[in-house]
Formats: sequence, C-alpha cells, structure tokens
Amino acid sequence: MVAKIQVGKGAMPAVGLGLWKIAREETPEMVRGAIAEGYCHLDSASDYGNEAEVGEGIRLALQQGLVDRDSLWVTSKLWNTYHRPEHVRSACERTLKDLGLSELDLYLIHFPIALEYVDFETRYPPEWLVDPEAETPKMQPDAVPLADTWGAMEALVEAGLVKEIGVCNYNAGLLHDLMAYANIKPAMLQIESHPYLTQERLLRAAAQYEMAVTAFSPLGALSYLELNMAEIGESVLKQAVVQAAAGRLDRTPAQVVLRWGIQRGTAVIPKTSQPARLKENKALFDFELTDEEMSAISALNCHRRFNDPGHFCEEAFDCFYPIYD
Ligand SMILES: NC(=O)c1ccc[n+]([C@@H]2O[C@H](COP(=O)([O-])OP(=O)(O)OC[C@H]3O[C@@H](n4cnc5c(N)ncnc54)[C@H](OP(=O)(O)O)[C@@H]3O)[C@@H](O)[C@H]2O)c1
Repeated sequence: MVAKIQVGKGAMPAVGLGLWKIAREETPEMVRGAIAEGYCHLDSASDYGNEAEVGEGIRLALQQGLVDRDSLWVTSKLWNTYHRPEHVRSACERTLKDLGLSELDLYLIHFPIALEYVDFETRYPPEWLVDPEAETPKMQPDAVPLADTWGAMEALVEAGLVKEIGVCNYNAGLLHDLMAYANIKPAMLQIESHPYLTQERLLRAAAQYEMAVTAFSPLGALSYLELNMAEIGESVLKQAVVQAAAGRLDRTPAQVVLRWGIQRGTAVIPKTSQPARLKENKALFDFELTDEEMSAISALNCHRRFNDPGHFCEEAFDCFYPIYD
C-alpha cells in the first residue's frame, strides 16, 4: 500500500521510481519489475534518454495485466532546448510516442533554463551542449521568457495531452512570478531535497500556493557519486541519527531517509537499478519516525545542493549559469 498525495485534480502515489541514469538496456525490465512490485508512479524525462525503453516496460506491464493505465501515474519533463512555445507541443508528443501513451499525468518544465533549439533529427535527447562535436563545445542559452513556455504548457492541458502541469528547480521568486501569470496553476514543484538540503522555506511557499512537492535525489549524495559531484563521505545514510532510527525500527538507513521525506509531506522518487532494492524503497508505510527523530534528521540540513547548474554548467559545459542565487 502506497499513500497518495493530491496533485491538482489527481492523486499521485507518494513513492515513485526515478528513471534518471537507468541504463537503456535495463530499463524495460526495471520498469516492468517495478510495476510488478506495486510501483504505480514513474518519474521520467526526455533528457534521461530512456523514454522509449520506459514505454516498453509500461507496455509489457499493461500486456501482462500488472496494472491498468488509469492506476499508473506517469510524469515526464520538457527539456531545456524546447522552451520556445512553438517547440513545446512536439516535445511533449515525442515523449508520449516514446512512452506509448496518449496522455501524461504530469508534465514539468525540467529547469528554468532555456537553451538553443536542437531538432530531433540532429540529436535526441539533445542534452546540454548545442554541438558536442565542436572544437570547444558549449552550452548555449536562449532568451525565452518562462511565461511564454508556461503558456504553451497550458495549451497541452487544453489539448488533452497532459492532465497536470508543473515545474522543477524553481526558487520561491520564480514561483511568485509564475503564480502572477498562470491561467492554469502549477500543480507540482519538483526540487532536490534530502536531509542535507531541507528547503523548508521553499516547501512553505509551495504549500501557500497549494502546490504539491516531489523531492528528487531523496537519498542525497548517492546519485552524484558516479558523476564525481559528491564524495562518499557525504552520504546521509551514514549519519548517526539515521543509523539510530534504522536500528530502532529495524529498517535500512535508506528507508529512514525516504520515510523522513514522506513524513514531511513530499513525494519521493528514489531511483534504483537494482531489482532487489525496489521493495525496500517502497516499504515506507508500516513504520513511523518520532517527532524527535524527524527533528534530528532535519537538523542535518547544511544547504548542500548536489544538482546545481551554477556549478556543473561551468565545469562541464563551459557556461556559468547560476539559477538559485
Ligand atoms: N527534476 C530534476 O531536475 C531532477 C534531477 C535529478 C533527479 N530527478 C529525478 O529524481 C529521481 C531520483 O533522484 P536521483 O536518481 O538523482 O537520486 P536518488 O534516487 O536519491 O539516489 C539514487 C542512488 O541511490 C542508490 N540507491 C537507491 N536505493 C538505495 C538503497 N535502498 N540503499 C542504498 N542506495 C540506494 C542508487 O544506486 P542503485 O541504482 O545501484 O540502487 C543510486 O546510486 C531521478 O531518478 C529522477 O527521476 C529529477
């Protein structure tokens, strides 16, 4: 049994499977296996490069009668190169085609970062660089107002391609601005959040606007080790308060950290490529952290952001592009 949280008019399972960095060849079986394990929420994105394989996993699960479409919540995200209003619908349609769906439950603006358009034939997904083959490859921002992109997102709802729309990686300033012009209100804010980056004020701002929040990278550093963007010593799973709660409850440290995320009202979307971890990451509803444990874990906050375009765009894509400052 997985609890649900209200997202616009819909109810989204509070635990989903994150799909970033699941290898394409492993993706169909991970998705099918997750659905067989009871996952009814998939967190996908064009940029993850595996949407066709996610679609294959969904197709297998539907074919095998593991789930019906109405019970499955599928989120995807508009990539940065498609922010110009004339590209938003075709980007969404490409995602729908790859996923084998006629409608998304939720479509999010992936970053408040518009990049120069790259057409599907040139490269899909185009990632961050305008031309990776160039002598000095570079990220190329494009001057597109977020309000224009939002208007095109609203048109997707009106066209029946997506049920709910929302944003990722917005700060409170951008949320206030968005609420001033949105005709269809954003139902979801997806942000990095874990015990080292609790983002309490941003959560409060979202709540004021009745936006649900999904915490990405809910396990903190772990996702960023393979990218050399974090050190193993930064793993929150090793923290004494997490270990103590895990010991008291006879659960794993990962379950404690994910439960902390759920218990503070966010959805969590842990990624795993290990079938054995699927059950563990979703078994969060038969135990509870005490108020003291919740506070002690929240007190680990040190504002450590692992996924920061202000760092990685300069290091990897030769473009200084801070968005949270
Ligand atoms: N909107 C955005 O900008 C954005 C950005 C980042 C992520 N996301 C979404 O959020 C999802 C989750 O974030 P994430 O993938 O960055 O990080 P995450 O889910 O917090 O962590 C994934 C890492 O933790 C490991 N792991 C998973 N379960 C574990 C367990 N029970 N015990 C120990 N280690 C465990 C995984 O290894 P194994 O695979 O080996 O299990 C992987 O290295 C993504 O997949 C993506 O869907 C969105």
